[in-house]
Amino acid sequence: MSSSTPHAPLYNLTDPAIPTVPHPKSATWLWTTAAIVISLLAVEQVVYRYKKRHLPGDKWTIPIIGKFADSMSPSMEGYKKQWDSGALSAISVFNIFIVMASSNEYSRKILNSPSYAEPCLVHSAKQILLPQNWVFLAGKDHLAYRRGLNSLFTRRALGIYITIQESITRKHFTKWLTVASQTTEAQPIMMTARHLNMDTSLRVFCGKHISEEAALEINDKYWAITQSLELVNFPLALPGTKVYKAIQARKAAMRWLELAAKLSKESMASGAEPECMLDEWVQILNDPLYKGRKEFSDEEMAMVLFSFLFASQDAMSSGLIYGFQHLSDNPDILAKIRAEQDVVRQGNYEKPLTLDMVDQMHYLNAFVKESMRVKPPVTMVPYKTTRAFPIADDYTVPSGSMVIPSFFNSLHDPSIYPEPEELLPERWLDTEGLANKNPKNYIVFGSGPHRCIGLEYAQMNIVLVLAMAAVMMNFEHEVTPKSDEVECVFSFTTARGSF
Ligand code: HEM
Repeated sequence: MSSSTPHAPLYNLTDPAIPTVPHPKSATWLWTTAAIVISLLAVEQVVYRYKKRHLPGDKWTIPIIGKFADSMSPSMEGYKKQWDSGALSAISVFNIFIVMASSNEYSRKILNSPSYAEPCLVHSAKQILLPQNWVFLAGKDHLAYRRGLNSLFTRRALGIYITIQESITRKHFTKWLTVASQTTEAQPIMMTARHLNMDTSLRVFCGKHISEEAALEINDKYWAITQSLELVNFPLALPGTKVYKAIQARKAAMRWLELAAKLSKESMASGAEPECMLDEWVQILNDPLYKGRKEFSDEEMAMVLFSFLFASQDAMSSGLIYGFQHLSDNPDILAKIRAEQDVVRQGNYEKPLTLDMVDQMHYLNAFVKESMRVKPPVTMVPYKTTRAFPIADDYTVPSGSMVIPSFFNSLHDPSIYPEPEELLPERWLDTEGLANKNPKNYIVFGSGPHRCIGLEYAQMNIVLVLAMAAVMMNFEHEVTPKSDEVECVFSFTTARGSF
C-alpha cells in the first residue's frame, strides 16, 4: 500500500469505545518491531540451549533477565539446589551464560587452567578496585607481580604482624567487655567483628602511618563496598547507586593508604625498623640484593593494600564470626581450647604471643580449619573463559562464559570428611586421616595461580583472635530462629548471631 493513502478521516470519527484500526504504516512498523523482538527472543533461547547442551539447568531461560531475580537475593539453599543438580550445571543471567561447577574435580580444573579461564570477580569489581589494579593482571604478568608480594607474607613478616594483631585484638576485646558490663542484652556480632578485623588489617598493613581518624573513616565507609558486590549491578555508577557509594568509599580509603605509603617510605629512609607490612615492603625493595621490580609509586602500593582489604575484609570477618558461633555452640570444644591455652601459655596470659606459640596450638588450629570447612567464608569464585574450555570429555564451556567453581561440595564430601556437617576438629589432628591425606579437597582458600595469597596470615589471625577470646572472655550465643541461617553476599557468606 502506498504511503500516501488518505486514512485520516477514519481515525477522526472513531468512537472511543470502539477499538481503533491501526494506520497501515504504523501497523507495518508494529509488526516489524514485534517480528524483530520475537526473533531476538527466539535467538536468545536457541543460543542458551546451544551453549547449555545436555547440562542440567532450566530448559528455557527467562527472556532478557534470565535468573536475575535469584541472583539479587542469593541463598545457600538456592545454591545447594543448583550444585546438587550436577557436577556441571548451567544458568543465564542477563544473557551472561554461566556454568556452575560443584565437584572437586571440575572446581579445581577451573582454578588450575589459567590458559582457559581467569578470575573475573563481580561486575562492579573493576570500578571499585580500579582497572589497573594488579589483581586484574593475567598469566606471566600476574605471576611476576604476585611473586614480589609473596615476600609480604613470609614467616619473618608474620612475626612482625603478630604483635600488632595481639594489641589491636586486646584493645577491641577490652571495649567489648566494657559494653557487656553495662548491659545484660546480647549484642549483635557482625559489625563488631568486622570493625575488629578492619582495624587489625589497617594496622598490620600501615602501622603508625595511618591515623585513628583514617581507620575510623575507612571502617565506616567500607560496608558500602561489601554491599556493591552483587553479580550484576545497575550499569551506571550514578549518585545514590551502590557502586557509586562504593567508589566514594574506595577514594577515601585510597587517599589514606597513599599517604601511609609515603610516610612509610620516609620512615624507612630515616633508618627506622620495619613495624608493619608497608615498612617491610619498602625495606625489601631497598635491599640491594633484591632482584625483583624496585620502584612502586605511593598509588601502586595503596592499590595493593586496597586489594588485600577487598579480598580479606568479608572473608576474614565471616571466618571469625563463624569461629565465635561454633565455639559458643560447642562448649566441649571451647573447654579443650582453653585447656590447650593453659599448656601453651603456661598460665601467663600477659606474655606476648609469638608464631611459635600459635604453632603449638594444635587443637585450636584444627578447630579453625574445621570451622571454615563446615561453613566456608567464600563459597565460590567467579571465573571467565578466555577461550572455549573443554572442561569434560562431553562438554566444552563456550568462550566468554562465566565458570564458577564452588567449594561447598568439596568441603562436605562424605568420602573425605565422614559426617560432613559435624564440627570435628579431631579429623585434622590425625596426620594419617582422610582429611589430611586429601588436601586437594580443602579449597577454602582456592587453588592454583590465584590461590589466596594471605592464607597463612588469615589462619594465624583467626587462631590468635579466638585464642585471646577463649582466655579473656566468657561468651554465649543467643540462639534465635535465624541463628543457623547463612546470609550470602554474592560469594561470601556470614552468620549474624548475637553474643
Ligand atoms: C578467612 C580468610 C580468607 C579466605 C577464606 C580467603 C579466600 C580466598 C579465595 C577463595 C581466593 C580465590 C582463590 C582462587 O581464585 O583460587 C582468595 C584470593 C585472594 N586473597 Fe584471600 N582469603 C582470606 C583472607 C585473605 C587475606 C587476609 C588476604 C590479604 C591480606 C587475602 C588476599 C587475597 C588476594 C590478594 C587474593 C587474590 C590472589 C590472586 O589473584 O593472585 N585473603 N582468597
